[in-house]
Order: sequence, then structure tokens, then C-alpha cells
Amino acid sequence: MKRYEDPSWRESMRVRLDFNNMTDEFIGSEGVSQADFQALGQKFEKAKSEMTRKRASGGMDWRDLPYNQKSAAADIKRYVSDVKDDIDAFVVLGIGGSALGPIAAQRALNHPFYNELPREKRGGFPRLYVVDNVDPERLSCLFDIIDVTKCVFNVISKSGGTSETMSQFMIIKKALEDKLGKDGVRKRIVCATDAEKGVLIKIAKEEGYKTFIIPSGVGGRFSELTPVGLLAAAFCGADIDELLAGAAFMDERCEESDLFKNPAFMYAALHYIGLTKGKNISVMMPYADSLQYVADWYAQLWAESLGKRLDNDGNVVNVGQTPVKALGATDQHSQVQLYAEGPFDKIVVFVATDKFKRTVTIPKIYEDVPSLGFLGGVTHDRLINVEREATEYALLKAGKMNMTVTLPEVNAFTLGQTLYMLEVAVGFAGELMNINAFDQPGVEAGKNAAYAMFGRPGYENEKKELDARPEKSDKYIIR
Ligand code: PA5
Repeated sequence: MKRYEDPSWRESMRVRLDFNNMTDEFIGSEGVSQADFQALGQKFEKAKSEMTRKRASGGMDWRDLPYNQKSAAADIKRYVSDVKDDIDAFVVLGIGGSALGPIAAQRALNHPFYNELPREKRGGFPRLYVVDNVDPERLSCLFDIIDVTKCVFNVISKSGGTSETMSQFMIIKKALEDKLGKDGVRKRIVCATDAEKGVLIKIAKEEGYKTFIIPSGVGGRFSELTPVGLLAAAFCGADIDELLAGAAFMDERCEESDLFKNPAFMYAALHYIGLTKGKNISVMMPYADSLQYVADWYAQLWAESLGKRLDNDGNVVNVGQTPVKALGATDQHSQVQLYAEGPFDKIVVFVATDKFKRTVTIPKIYEDVPSLGFLGGVTHDRLINVEREATEYALLKAGKMNMTVTLPEVNAFTLGQTLYMLEVAVGFAGELMNINAFDQPGVEAGKNAAYAMFGRPGYENEKKELDARPEKSDKYIIR
């Protein structure tokens, strides 16, 4: 039996949401009151039924991923075991939702210096790189540390045409072709894309690349539990079935209709009420390096989903809550001053773990130096958690909204729960805000403007509009 099939282990791995410090009972007048919860009444019920309706009518296909990706996971595992011994590195080419999930999972589940470990300490798995930008130095410098002929390149694009990713693909394909010839390329490229949309699927079919399908109704930032995230995670030896099982476990919890028992609905409701009280910023501050990139993933999820010009009735609303990523304890020495004493415009979400995979103990030296002696014998896991509690207390004292998401330990099961909970939360927050959390017209606008600048056929109108923009004035440029 796998551990995630054991009910008592599953229970012991429940991710917790502690929102004491969001309430007026704890932080005073800035906090959420019982009256605020009551005032949510009808809106809450409407949002709940919309979530149910959308799920049933196929408007939220990502909610089925914990269940319908099992056969994709089996296919992925077969592919990984066929290929892994043949390569030194697995390289993801993707951006936004096609990169942030793989990065978050890699950091959460693997050794912090994974790529530097000797292969046997990586369980025989290849190194992993995620190239999620078109900075000209990045890809060209990657060539200094990899042998392209000993890599598999995973081209990930839901839309199948994003310029950044496709440009990387074109560069890599040429580099591979120069070294391995046309036939050699085939074994070195694997795609993850939509079954129909975009040029990538056409190329993949024509050129014979192994391809994993991203289900059609699943947008980029909701795609970690598809081959987008599962493939890279499996290439580093993560238990992807456990990741899906964790998400399924959270899915059951998110079906709970009582707000006070549903962590995702509560997370969303608190953010929504916070927004009505001027909390325009949602800070995510993990106190564990392994969770650092969950905050990056969250930033995209929260920003792209909730930052919208129009509401569902077509009114111009320009809403959203700006996500900020921070890392404890590092950012205590950088941002916490602002969180504690600056404007009352933030909700700080600490992300904690009860149990680290490893620890170190501070030796009992300098016992006669009071400013150091108290540290002797303390472990670093205790130190970081005490620092988190101390920061939480400082915010409480300052009357600043904060809450804590705790993972009993960081593993595939708790990561699956956490990501899924935040996805449901963003969907629910979108309903409360009466906006569409699942589109990204602002991102598309930027993509289209770039196409127009390059004179891509089909973007003539955008080009005309672009060319009509005012010339920059020299008087506003300091040289
Ligand atoms: O969440 C989104 O939809 C976006 O951030 C996309 O993930 C990003 O633009 C990359 O798009 P694609 O996966 O289509 O290449």
C-alpha cells in the first residue's frame, strides 16, 4: 500500500489554515468581524453555487485533474524510465504557467542543491533546468553547462505558440539538428501542449515528437497537475501519483459547504473581505526555502486570475489584489518593517512546515556570551519556526492581517493539497468579485503587441494601432 492510501497517514498530512490573526478578536478594528462574515451571506451562497455549476458544466476542467490525469501519469512514468538513463539533464522550455509550477515542485520536493549532487545521490535521475525567459545570456550560458546531445528538452506551451517558448524551441532544434541530424532530434524533444490549438502540436505530429496533452479546458496557471508539472517532477524522481492524491484529498475538503470547514473558501473569503477593507496586497511569505517558489507560482495565480478590468456584467471595475512574494526569515531583514509599520493595505500569508527534512544544531559554544549563548543547542528548524511565530506576533501587535498555511511536512501529498487549495481559492475569490478568474486578456494584449511589432501576418490592425501611439518626447528622458 502506498502511504497516501493509508487513511491515518493522510489525516496526519492535512494542510491547515490558521486565520486567527485575520479576525477583529485578535487584531482589533482592522480585522474581519462576525458581521463581515454574515454580510457575505448571499454572495457566498451565489459563489458556491456558481463553483458547483461551472464544475458540472465543464467550466473548470482543472478541478478534474486529480482524477483524470492518472493514465497520463502512468504514461509519463513509462517515458521517464525509458529515457532517464540516457540523459544528463532534462530541460524545460516554457514560461508563465508553463514554468512556474515545475519550478515550485522541483524546489519543494528535491534537494536544494539538486543539480550539484552527484547522480547517485539524485536517485539516478538527470539534472533539471527550467529556462523560462528569453534573456539572451540565459540560454547561451546554458550551453556552457549542458551537452545538448545528452538532454531532453521539454517544450511546454498550452497555446502552442508563445514566442518566448517557440523561439527557444527553434534555437534548440537547430542546435540538435547540427549535432545529431534530423533523426537524432526526435529523441531529444518532448512536447506538452493542447491537442488541437497552436502550431506546436502540428510540428510535433509532423516531426514525430513524443507529446503529452494538456487537457483543453485547463489554462496555464492551473496546469501543474497535467503533464506540464508531472513530467518534470517525475524526471526528478518525485512521486507524481502522490501529488495527484494530495490534490484529490484537498478536493474533497473543498467540497465542504460550511465556510468554517473549507480552507479554500475561507482563504478566498478572507481575501475578499480584506479587499473591501482596502487590503490591496496579498503577501505570501513561506518560512522554508523548499516553499519559496510556491510563492512565485501563487503570485501568477493570484495576479492573472484576479486582476481584471471588466466584471462578469461588463462593467469596468479594474479590480485585483497585488501579490507579493517574500521569504522568511530572509525578508524579515528586508520587507517586514513595511509589513509591520507601513500602510494597512496587506494580508500576509505565512506558509510554514511542522517538520523539515533535515536540520542542523547550533553548537553550545560562547555560552558565557549572553547575546549568543541562548542559541546553543537550538536547531535551525526551531529557530526558523520561532522567527515566524515572532513575526506573526509583531504583525498581530501592529493590528495587521495575517494568516498561516501549515504543511505538516513538505512532500508530494501536502504540495498537491496546497496548490489545489490555492487554485480553488482563486476560483472562489473570482466568483465573490464577480469576475472571470480563468482568462487573461491583459497577457494576450502584450503577446499581440509583440507580434505586431515584429510585423507578424494577421496582426496588421494591432500594428496600425501601435504605429499611431505618440512618439516619446526627449524632454522626459534624462540622459
Ligand atoms: O496562465 C497563463 O495562461 C499564462 O501565464 C501562460 O501560462 C503563459 O502565457 C504561457 O502560455 P503558453 O503555455 O500558452 O505558452
